[in-house]
Amino acid sequence: MSQYSWGGRFAEGMDALVARFNASVRFDQRLAKHDILGSLAHARMLCAQGLLSAEELRSIEVGLTRIQERIDAGDFAWSDALEDVHMNIEAELVETIGAAGKKLHTARSRNDQVATDMRLWINEVGAELIASLVALRSALIEQAQAHQDFILPGYTHLQRAQPVRLSHHLLAHEAHLARDTQRIADAIRRQNYSPLGSGALAGTPHAIDRQHVAEQLGFDGVTTNSLDAVGARDHMLELLAACAIAQIGLSRLAEELVLWSSQEFAFCTLSDAYCTGSSMMPQKKNPDMPELVRGKAGRVLGDFVALATVVKGLPLAYNKDLQEDKEPLFDAVDTLRDCATVMTGTVATATFHRQRMEDALRDGYVEATELADLLVEQGVAFREAHHRVGDLVGELAKNGQRLIDTTDDQIHHHLKLDADVVRARFDLEAMIDRRQQPGSPAKDYVAQALVAAKKRLERSL
Ligand code: ARG
Repeated sequence: MSQYSWGGRFAEGMDALVARFNASVRFDQRLAKHDILGSLAHARMLCAQGLLSAEELRSIEVGLTRIQERIDAGDFAWSDALEDVHMNIEAELVETIGAAGKKLHTARSRNDQVATDMRLWINEVGAELIASLVALRSALIEQAQAHQDFILPGYTHLQRAQPVRLSHHLLAHEAHLARDTQRIADAIRRQNYSPLGSGALAGTPHAIDRQHVAEQLGFDGVTTNSLDAVGARDHMLELLAACAIAQIGLSRLAEELVLWSSQEFAFCTLSDAYCTGSSMMPQKKNPDMPELVRGKAGRVLGDFVALATVVKGLPLAYNKDLQEDKEPLFDAVDTLRDCATVMTGTVATATFHRQRMEDALRDGYVEATELADLLVEQGVAFREAHHRVGDLVGELAKNGQRLIDTTDDQIHHHLKLDADVVRARFDLEAMIDRRQQPGSPAKDYVAQALVAAKKRLERSL
C-alpha cells in the first residue's frame, strides 16, 4: 500500500501496482524547475492579495529554493507514491517548512498547475529547439555560400533532369527549415498565456490576481476560458505537428546525404565523425547519422498521432488521459533538437565532389531541355522541338555518346540547326544563368537568395 493519503474521503491506501501505474513522476520530474517557478509566482501573488502573510511567503520561498537546490544536486528522493512532480514537491515543502507549505495550494489545482508547467517548459525548450534549427540553417547557408560554382543534376523521379547550382539545392532545404522555424515559433507564441487561476476547471472564489502571476512568469497574458485552459491540448498538438513536419523535412535532407555519399553517386564525402564502420565488412563506412535522422521521422510523427489520439473525443475539461500528453511532447522536442544538431555537424563537415557532379550531368543528357528551348527560340513549336531532341538523345544513348559528343552531322540531321549555335548552348553555367527569374538557380538569383536567407536567419534568432 502506498503511504500517500488523499485525505478524509479515502479510508484505504492505494494498491502498490496502481500507485505505480497512476504515477507520472518518472517522466514529469523534468518539469520540477517550471513547477517551482510557477509556485513561487503563485505564492507571491497570494501574498500581494493578502492571502498569505509575508512570513508565510518568506518560508515558502526559502523552502522551494532549497528543494530546487536538492533537485539540482540529484539529492531529492522522488516517490511514485506521491504520484507526480507537483505532489512530490508540495509534500516535501510541507515536510520541511510545516504549516505555511499547506497554504501554497490555495486557489490552485494540479490541473491549472500542470497546464502552466507545460507551457513554461514549452517556452524554454522551444527556444533551444529553434536555436538548433537556426544552427542547421546556418550550416546549410555556409555550404551554399562556399559552393556557388558547383553544379549538379537536379532530379525528378530520381532521374537526372536539369543542371542546378549546389548552393540552390542546399538553400531549398534551408527554405523548408525556415518555415519549420516559423511554425514552431508561432506555436510557442500562441500558447504563451497563463492558465493559473483556472483552478480545477471553474476558477476560484479567492481574490487572486491572474495578471500578476502571468507577468511574473513572462506570459503574454492570461488564458480566457477556465475549461479550455485546463482541458485543451491543441497548443501541444500544434507544436507536435510542427515538429513532425520539420522532422520529415530533415529526413529528406538526410536521405539525400545518404544517396550523395554512396559510391553510386559519390557527390560528397561525409566526415568520419558522423559515420560508422561495419562489424564484419572492413571496407564499409556507413552514413548512420543521416540514416537515424531519417528513421526518427517515424517516431516524431508517431508522437503527434499518439497525443492526437489521446485528446480526440475527450469531454471537457481535465481527464487523467491528459497525463499522457507529456511523453510524446518531450520525445518529439528532444528528438528533433538532437537530429537538427547532428545534421548541423554532418552538413558542416561534408565535402563535395565537383567533378563527379559534372560527370553525372554530362552522362545524364541534362542539356536536352536547353536544346529544345533553343529550337523554340528559332521558331520551332515546343512539341516538335521536344520530338527532335528526343530522337537525337535516343540515337546517342544507343551509341554510348553524350550530348557533348554529338557530331555535326547528327546535329544537322536531327535538329536542323547550325552546329556552332548548338554547341554554344552546352555550357552548363550559361544554361543555368539564362534562367533570369526570382527563385531560379541562376548565379545572380542564388546570390540574392543567399542574402535573403542570411537576413531571415537573423530574424529567427
Ligand atoms: N500528473 C497529472 C497530469 O500530468 C497532474 C494533474 C492531475 N490532476 C488530477 N485531477 N488528477 O495530468
